[in-house]
Amino acid sequence: MATRRKFLRQSLMGGAAVFARVSGPAAGGPIVVSTWDFGKSANAGAWEVLGKGGRALDAVEQGVRIPEADPSIQTIGYGGLPDRDGRVTLDACIMDDRYNCGSVMCLEYIKHPISVARLVMEKTPHIILAGDGALQFALANGFHKENLLTDKSKKDYEEWLKTSHYSPEVNIENRLHDPMPGGATNHDTIGMLAMDEQGNLSGACTTSGLAYKMHGRVGDSPVIGAGLYVDNEVGAATATGVGEEVIRIVGSHLIVELMRQGLSPEAACREGIGRIIRRGPDRAKDIQVGFLALNKKGEYGAYCLQQGFTYAVRSEKEDRIYKGKSIY
Ligand code: GLY
Repeated sequence: MATRRKFLRQSLMGGAAVFARVSGPAAGGPIVVSTWDFGKSANAGAWEVLGKGGRALDAVEQGVRIPEADPSIQTIGYGGLPDRDGRVTLDACIMDDRYNCGSVMCLEYIKHPISVARLVMEKTPHIILAGDGALQFALANGFHKENLLTDKSKKDYEEWLKTSHYSPEVNIENRLHDPMPGGATNHDTIGMLAMDEQGNLSGACTTSGLAYKMHGRVGDSPVIGAGLYVDNEVGAATATGVGEEVIRIVGSHLIVELMRQGLSPEAACREGIGRIIRRGPDRAKDIQVGFLALNKKGEYGAYCLQQGFTYAVRSEKEDRIYKGKSIY
């Protein structure tokens, strides 16, 4: 028994030593990575915090608020395409470097669900608030009710109603809508991962979910472990695309665990995509899923099912958009 106790004590102390070792300053300086082309402007928002030595948690919240407020992005926040009942319902989550996390699901009328998710994390004993409860919590904490359905999204919805055909298609937003000014594409969820000067990681993920989904449908984005996961000992991962497939494999947590086993961020994302294919080859060939990951060394990588997924990187060395490698 004494030996077992000694073993446990040593194991626990070993764990603490690992944690202390990985919490040192970021070797390559701060870095932020985000899904899709619109991640570049979101990264610029995050960099205002990171570049001044601020905390990764503040950076990811500030960063993703930019696409949340942009009505030309019809897949996130204000201006998001509605569900099949014409209601804009938003999902978001946030996670810091100490396993603290907060999430809102199916939240209506609030432009910045990510900030509500952060308050759930910081001000409640819970992790997830959904629907009307999330709205009541937001209103009680100073958020204002707004109509999030813009004229453009209402018009697109009314057009969709003529057929009401529902089938999530590959890169659908790109095909249904004109490119955004500047040639950027109008896509899916924003997932953002950041490491600050102290070497600490945080992440945020926010979306209006699949266009014309059933009312009440929740995707992967606000599900900790699926749309986002952060483990400050190892790295962080996030997802975009058809959330049902990401939830099925608990994608972001899987990718962090694969990085723990020694895989690079890109190899871990590739394995995550491979698992989606193995779990449902028929489903996978017609949909898009993209994973993005960042490890404690500041290395990043991505992988997706279909061509077309992009991600944005901002650090002291670069500020650019990359194409994600794809299986198909
Ligand atoms: N990845 C966004 C969603 O499925 O809702």
